[in-house]
Formats: sequence, structure tokens, C-alpha cells
Amino acid sequence: MAKSRVQFICQNCGSVHQRWAGKCDACGEWNTLVEEGTSGGIGSGPANTRNARKGRAVVLTTLSGDIEDAPRIISGIGELDRATGGGFVRGSALLVGGDPGIGKSTLLTQAAAALASRGHRIVYVSGEEAVAQIRLRAQRLGVADTPVELAAETNVEDILATIADGKRPDLVILDSIQTLWTDLADSAPGTVTQVRAAAQAMIRYAKSTGAAIVLVGHVTKEGQIAGPRVVEHMVDGVLYFEGEGGHHYRILRTVKNRFGPTDEIGVFEMSDKGLREVSNPSELFLGERHAKSPGAAVFAGMEGTRPVLVEIQALVAQSSLGTPRRAVVGWDGARLSMVLAVLEAHCGVRFGQHDVYLNVAGGYRISEPAADLAVAAALVSSLTGLALPADCVYFGEISLSGAVRPVAHAQQRLKEAEKLGFGSAVLPLGSEELAGGIGAGAFQPTELADLVARIAGSRRSRVDDEE
Ligand code: TYD
Ligand code: MG
Repeated sequence: MAKSRVQFICQNCGSVHQRWAGKCDACGEWNTLVEEGTSGGIGSGPANTRNARKGRAVVLTTLSGDIEDAPRIISGIGELDRATGGGFVRGSALLVGGDPGIGKSTLLTQAAAALASRGHRIVYVSGEEAVAQIRLRAQRLGVADTPVELAAETNVEDILATIADGKRPDLVILDSIQTLWTDLADSAPGTVTQVRAAAQAMIRYAKSTGAAIVLVGHVTKEGQIAGPRVVEHMVDGVLYFEGEGGHHYRILRTVKNRFGPTDEIGVFEMSDKGLREVSNPSELFLGERHAKSPGAAVFAGMEGTRPVLVEIQALVAQSSLGTPRRAVVGWDGARLSMVLAVLEAHCGVRFGQHDVYLNVAGGYRISEPAADLAVAAALVSSLTGLALPADCVYFGEISLSGAVRPVAHAQQRLKEAEKLGFGSAVLPLGSEELAGGIGAGAFQPTELADLVARIAGSRRSRVDDEE
């Protein structure tokens, strides 16, 4: 008989170790190895190949053929449908991750209610809250009278038996994947083995019946979905629900989508009556612009197919420390170091004696390298004390050689800026033909030094004006 051996599974990346260690070799995380039994463990396969069942032939089919229902279920919540790429896909599994308390349950309750009132059968299974709590939330959201079917349950077999009853549901929401457990695995709920086994069972259900399922997953403080790291590979789509503490808006970001585009965002605002859609996010992130304050530059960014304008704020101050501070909120710290180095090496701007603080307004997070130019402009503006023109937007990537490199969607970015009342732009010289508007009078430097000279030059023209 095969001896049931102990093994240790990393709760972060799911790799299996024979011995316990403080650090996982595979992902480098500390203190993530947890002992889980192997007997009957999911993924290990039958221990004894002699007892293995003989395979059953399945019917092979063609690519073309009838699909019974519309392949997508549209919720009517525009920002959610945008993030999912046009609605929930039948027969697919979607993972919605986010920090505890960010509003995942609120979002999905609203989605469930919207879908149920459109005549779909929606089942909401909560493993975290009691039925009374969910009812309270529904009352607060004003959707208590929608025909959403509700259960507080954590066992996968029981859930599957429950939803097998009656008409097949169009959408099953499982809140959250960390609380689910199946009889097939013998680890504690929340461990990688359980999470993976439970997710597998639910995904198998989705694929075989054509129901859409949504798995809710909590993200750890480090920004990773605890356990469900392994689930990300199994599901068809991953959405992250994120927001900064102290700010009311929330962003639903598409990280993976087998049926649509990634990099899409849906923007919401948390109110006392649930999440409200924000269809023009630029207004949210622009902050209060004062023409005379140095260190602020407006970046014309893109999120998937949608342009978003955000204000980038820099503060460059004399440092009293041996090693000056560099602090970034909302952008990549390594990228800031790079822009500072290019400014020093190619433009003769010195930051060695200065602390540098960079902030993206509204708590927004930028991942695009196209923000380089706006960051550089904000830094130079703060260092020199010269305010940038308030009606100007900036975008462009900076290379290590100090050149300004073109970025995609220049036309779309300019159009959004124009729509919001901006009158000028600084952007790279690109291959895209810029038609009229603010594109025509735009400043297009090929070198970062040109932009620095222009900002520094504004001092001279201002002195001239005053004389
Ligand atoms: P919740 O959806 O429970 O978060 P999650 O499921 O991601 O853990 O949201 C909890 C927070 O949202 C809580 O702090 C209260 C707030 N909230 C509102 O501000 N307005 C509302 O209408 C609701 C339902 C919640
Ligand atoms: Mg919740």
C-alpha cells in the first residue's frame, strides 16, 4: 500500500515541497508553507494505477454548431459589462479579487439584482455572511424585492446539489472561494488544496451545464489573492476590484479575459446606497487644478480602450538627509528612479540634494510607461518652482538615452483632453497623423532636454511679461 506522506504546499504559489522551510523556493515568499495531507489530495491522481477506471469514450464534435442561448449575460451595469468585455459568458468562470471591505459583495449583489430583474435565474451563495446580513445589504441597496436566490453555504457538494434543483441557473455567485470546501480534499478550508479542489468542481459544473459562475477571492495585503493564485490559471477571466483607502471610488480592472480585451477598467463610486457608475473617470482624477501651483502635470493616459486624464503631482524639496528620500504613490518607484536618472544624465537637472515625492491624484494607479513625460514635467516644474500651463496635457515614454518615444493612441488621448477643455499638449513625434484641434499646435520634443529647456524658458518669458 502506498504510504500517505506529508507534504508542504506554498499558500502563495501552490508549489509542493517535501520538507518545511521558512521560505518558498519557487516564489520567494516567507512563511507560506503549510502542511497538507497527500492521501486523496486533488491533482495527485489515483494512488494505485491498478484500481484506475478505464476511460470512457466521449463524442467528438465540430467547431460550428448551435449554441442555445445568447453566449453572454448582460447585466445592464455599464461599467461592469465593460470590464467583463460585454457581459458574463455562459459556461465560463470569472474570479473577482480584491481587498476585504472594498465592495466585492456589494458589486455582485447589485449585479445579481440587475440580472434577476431582467429575468435570469441568479443564485448567490455566501460562505461569509449569514442570510440576514445579505438581506440587510440588499435592503440598503434597494434591491430586496428582486428574485435573487440566496443561500449561506460552504460545502461544494451541497451547493452543487442545491443548484441542480429546478431550472439551470444563468449565473452562480460564490462569495468567497476561500470559504468553500469539498469532501474530496482533506485539508482545512482556505488552504491551496481546498481552494483548488473547490474551484475545480465549480468550474467543471460551469463547463458542463453552461451556467456562468463568479468566484470571489480575497487579496492579501501583499496584493496577491490568497490561495486563488492557483485559481487564476483555472478560470476564464480575472477581475480585480481596487481602490485607495479614504477615497470613495473603486476600479474594476480586467487582468485576464479569455473572451475579451484585458486592461479594461470599470469605475464606480461607493455611496451610502451602494456602488454608483462613473462614466467619465477623468473628472474624478483631475483634482483641483490651480494655474499657479508648480509640480502638477496632467497625464493623458489610456485604460484599455478608454482615455483617462489624471493629474500627477511632484514635490521636490531640499533634503536634510544623507540619502534623499524618494516616495511614490500610484506609480512605479523604479520608473521614477529611471526618469530622475535620465533628467540628471541628459538634461543637467540635479536631484542629488533633494527629496522627491510623487503622487497620482485621487489615489489612482498608473502602470503605463507613457506617463514618463508627465512625471518629468512635474518634477522639473517643482524643482524650478515654475508652474506648468494649466490647460496642457502630457504623454510620452522616455528612453534611457533621453529620447522621447512615441506611444499608442495619441489621437484618442488628445480627443479626450480636448473634450475636457484642454488647449495644448506635449507629446512625442510619432507616426500617427494628428488631425486638427490641439494636436495641430502641440509641442513635440524628440529629446527630454527640449522639454526641460521649454519649462525653464517659461521663467524668462514670465519675467519679460512682468516688465
Ligand atoms: P463589501 O461589499 O461587504 O466588501 P467585500 O465583500 O469586498 O469585503 O463592502 C463593504 C464596505 O462597503 C463597507 O465598508 C461598507 C461599504 N458600503 C457602503 O459604503 N455603502 C453601501 O451601500 C454598502 C452596501 C456598503
Ligand atoms: Mg464580502
